[in-house]
Amino acid sequence: MRVYDIITKTRDGLELSREEIRFLIDGYTKGQIPDYQMAAWCMAVYFQGLSPQATAELTMAMVDSGEVLTWPELGDQLVDKHSTGGVGDKTTLVLLPWVAAAGVRIAKMSGRGLGHTGGTLDKLSSIPGFRFDLTRAEFLQTVAKAGLAIVGQTGNLVPADKKLYALRDVTATVDSIPLIASSIMSKKIAAGASRIVLDVKTGSGAFMEELPKAKLLAETMVDIGAKTGRRTTALVTNMDQPLGVAVGNALEVREAIETLQGNGPEDLTELCLALGAEMLVQAEKVDTPQEGRRLLLEVMDKGLPLQKFRAMVEAQGGDARVIEEPELLPQAPVCSDVTAVGSGYVTRIHTKRIGLIAMELGAGRQRIEDDIDLSAGLEVFVKVGDEIQAGQLIAKVYGPTTEAVKKAAQKIEASVEIEEHPAKPLSLILARVSR
Ligand code: URA
Repeated sequence: MRVYDIITKTRDGLELSREEIRFLIDGYTKGQIPDYQMAAWCMAVYFQGLSPQATAELTMAMVDSGEVLTWPELGDQLVDKHSTGGVGDKTTLVLLPWVAAAGVRIAKMSGRGLGHTGGTLDKLSSIPGFRFDLTRAEFLQTVAKAGLAIVGQTGNLVPADKKLYALRDVTATVDSIPLIASSIMSKKIAAGASRIVLDVKTGSGAFMEELPKAKLLAETMVDIGAKTGRRTTALVTNMDQPLGVAVGNALEVREAIETLQGNGPEDLTELCLALGAEMLVQAEKVDTPQEGRRLLLEVMDKGLPLQKFRAMVEAQGGDARVIEEPELLPQAPVCSDVTAVGSGYVTRIHTKRIGLIAMELGAGRQRIEDDIDLSAGLEVFVKVGDEIQAGQLIAKVYGPTTEAVKKAAQKIEASVEIEEHPAKPLSLILARVSR
């Protein structure tokens, strides 16, 4: 077998066999295939795409490039959730305790954030003492005791993706649906997920800005799930405005706690209900998403999701007093209000800009080795369609210095467009893809 022939076939839109795909991924992971040939292959995929079968084969070849975790202790039916990343997306912090409260055991591996979207581990780092570096035994004990645990990713999972993603990043081939779909799904499968619920974000704050492409990505991932025996459902959801109010680590934890108390922003609560209902169907707790919603509302009425969150925080060494005393979370030294200059309606929120403003304040990292400021961030109190009066509070900025906060406040003002004509509120859930 020759790499040259595989590149030629891909370039010409011909079907690749399982053996050819495995030869390519194995050879690249082991350093036997040079970057220039792999880059040419990625570019061929970028222009020609890959068939659904080849995309599924690619995913499994990537899974088998490294360690594959199994969880027989959890009955081998691990339900996992993945978001493609958004601004203010603290869904995992609310959704997982909520689903656990409905009786599904959750063992979650999460990552740190990069760029304008945050990571769950960064957010949870704001809780003093919270540990992610649990051993496998501790992880399983926590799941058994608290019903859920969230840890950092360990082990050598999908080394092919690490190498390939770095190569795609510098060869303008990140933006290819089969490559993105196989990259995301390989990591979920290698972590041991057998049932997967995906939140594919679209809009100005999302990685996949256009709805048709986001739908195609969702369909491709659901198809990979079907072809590899991992039942997968995807919701395509709106990221044309921040999710909830808070953007920034400690601020988002505070909002997640309020949501677990039943007092969270409407959009965040609604998204958690929709994703949670799908997780309950996947876990075979209920037959339909409608039943799932009812069960989630029932457990919320009894205050169980917050109990699960508290149990997880305590079991992972965190200071659970933050639930009653959020001032124990990191607090920014400087805070400033942003008010509307004129009256009218919010017609547009430049969501990626909002994410970048939070990042510049210190809430996110540009490079993986950067430190972050857990207390920094912002709160955006308005949504598209809201009627606004001049002088009304539209946002708050939290940061390390007066200068940084002032600069951020000016940028936020320019990121929320207020015009005279009314605008329609945005729909949150734009599509559901299932098999
Ligand atoms: N996120 C991933 O994990 N992989 C991609 O290729 C793109 C986004």
